[in-house]
Amino acid sequence: MKKPVAHQKTLAKFTGTLLLVGAGKMGSAMLDGWIARGLAPKRIAVIEPQPAKPVKALARRGLKLNPKTPAEAGAIVIAVKPQTAPEAVPPLKPYIGTSTLVLSIMAGRTLSFLQNKLPAGSAIVRAMPNTPAAIGRGITVAVANAKVSARQRKLATDLLAAIGKVEWVTHEGLLDAVTALSGSGPAYSFLLAEAMTKAGIAAGLPADLAARLARETVAGSGELLHRSELDAATLRQNVTSPGGTTAAALEVLMGPGGFDELLTKAIAAATRRSRELAG
Ligand SMILES: NC(=O)c1ccc[n+]([C@@H]2O[C@H](COP(=O)([O-])OP(=O)(O)OC[C@H]3O[C@@H](n4cnc5c(N)ncnc54)[C@H](OP(=O)(O)O)[C@@H]3O)[C@@H](O)[C@H]2O)c1
Repeated sequence: MKKPVAHQKTLAKFTGTLLLVGAGKMGSAMLDGWIARGLAPKRIAVIEPQPAKPVKALARRGLKLNPKTPAEAGAIVIAVKPQTAPEAVPPLKPYIGTSTLVLSIMAGRTLSFLQNKLPAGSAIVRAMPNTPAAIGRGITVAVANAKVSARQRKLATDLLAAIGKVEWVTHEGLLDAVTALSGSGPAYSFLLAEAMTKAGIAAGLPADLAARLARETVAGSGELLHRSELDAATLRQNVTSPGGTTAAALEVLMGPGGFDELLTKAIAAATRRSRELAG
């Protein structure tokens, strides 16, 4: 089993100002992670019309809430809803200097959209996180424009690592498939728990017991997969004895029209939809 990794204070040496735009679910999760990684509240500024209590509490420890006078930021993290972008992004121009990194986690808002709304030559990273980010267990895929330096890329990695693992791609077009796999993926896992519950009920279990068994089985298996050195296929094989109960179920799930085929179709549909939404 992999050993749990303690948070490293990767952001303790950040010397500029980090501007967070939008402290909703994702923005707040990032904020928590940054503080846990050693970023001092006085290094952070937040633009948020309705700040939640934890953000107000950080303001009492030095975080600048809704600053009146824009000052050049070392990094700007944009975490507003994509539909808010046309009004939220242009006012950020005065915060951008020659070395500012702009990091957007808005779904579907492309690098070219951001480039058009920000000063020419801005260093921009577009990233796609997923919901387990709320508990620091997300996975984010990032893509940089040509202006992003190695130092800024490292900073983006450190900022995104606050909500989980980080992967980089070089082609922005891959983000549609990423959105379909890891962005929408948590819903597939929740659906698995729902479907297992229904199937358990159909097999004769009381509904509440079926729901608890399904929930803990999906959650526990996910945790085992997370901690294990083994890949998913090996873990599956390790719980499947020839001719046994698991093998009987897998014959159905891995047969024609089974999991592989369904998920391939589902992820293709989500990839197409992501392309359509990006325009
Ligand atoms: N949640 C996910 O699983 C997930 C996954 C991938 C990507 N994302 C992306 O992450 C971004 C944030 O999602 P979220 O779930 O955290 O949304 P959210 O909870 O709605 O957070 C957005 C926050 O931005 C605030 N806001 C609105 N207008 C603003 C403005 N002009 N300036 C500054 N802040 C403003 C909102 O305040 P009000 O509530 O007052 O409007 C809200 O607190 C989205 O772009 C989404 O596409 C989310």
